[in-house]
Parts: sequence; structure tokens; C-alpha cells
Amino acid sequence: MGCAACGLVACVGPVNDTAAGDTGGGPASPSNIPAGNVADYYSGDLVSVGWSVAVGYDQGGIYALSTICTHAGCDMANYGRISSNGIYCSCHGSEFDVDGNVVRGPARRALDHYQVTIHANGDIYVDSTHVISESTRVAV
Ligand code: FES
Repeated sequence: MGCAACGLVACVGPVNDTAAGDTGGGPASPSNIPAGNVADYYSGDLVSVGWSVAVGYDQGGIYALSTICTHAGCDMANYGRISSNGIYCSCHGSEFDVDGNVVRGPARRALDHYQVTIHANGDIYVDSTHVISESTRVAV
């Protein structure tokens, strides 16, 4: 099943947005972050892909979220730990589950989720300029 609006295998987010249509294939940027291929991921994974973004794979599919701690802005990819068990911020000890929800403060707000696009060859791109609902997944 493909995306009727953009011709990709799957996409989420505002399909009429030009940034969504431009995602993938060009130079890496915050709106076009290469995140490997679906073949690289196993269910339950949550991995840092750079650009302050982590990509996860759960029963709903692929998703992406910010690794910037909502307490005081530490990038938990550099100051913390990201794994299939969740995300830990070493700056002041906040913890988030794999979906970005706060498990332990001082952070009080969940992590932002970002738009994901998966091309026909399985390559994954994240647009960190588009915050989307935390429940959104791209099925694989
Ligand atoms: S910046 Fe992460 S807990 Fe303070």
C-alpha cells in the first residue's frame, strides 16, 4: 500500500506540506534526517540516529522522537542513555519511556515526536521540523 499523495510506501503528517514532499534523497538536514533502513530495526528497538533524534519500532511501526530533555535541554544522546528500556538524562536524572513519556522528573513534559517517511526501498527519513502526535506510527 502506498501513499496516494506522495507515492511513497508510507508516510504520515501533512501530505500537502512541501517539506513533507521533499523528505528523503537530498542532503541531510533537520527536515531530512537519514535513519537507516527498516531492515536495520527489530521490534522494541529505540536508537539514536543523530540530529538529536531517536527512532523506535513497536507493534504499531516506526516512530521518531526528540532526544532533547524537556527539563533543561540536555541532548540525551550525548548526556544520558537511549535504549529499548527507555531514555535517561544524566544532567539531572529525568527518565522517559520508549514513547517519550516522563517516568521520573524533574522533566514534566513528554518528548516531541517527529514525522517519519519510509521510501519504497525501506530507507527511513525523519523530519524534526514537524512535530506530530505521539501515537503516530508508520507501519512496516
Ligand atoms: S536536563 Fe534532563 S533532567 Fe535536567
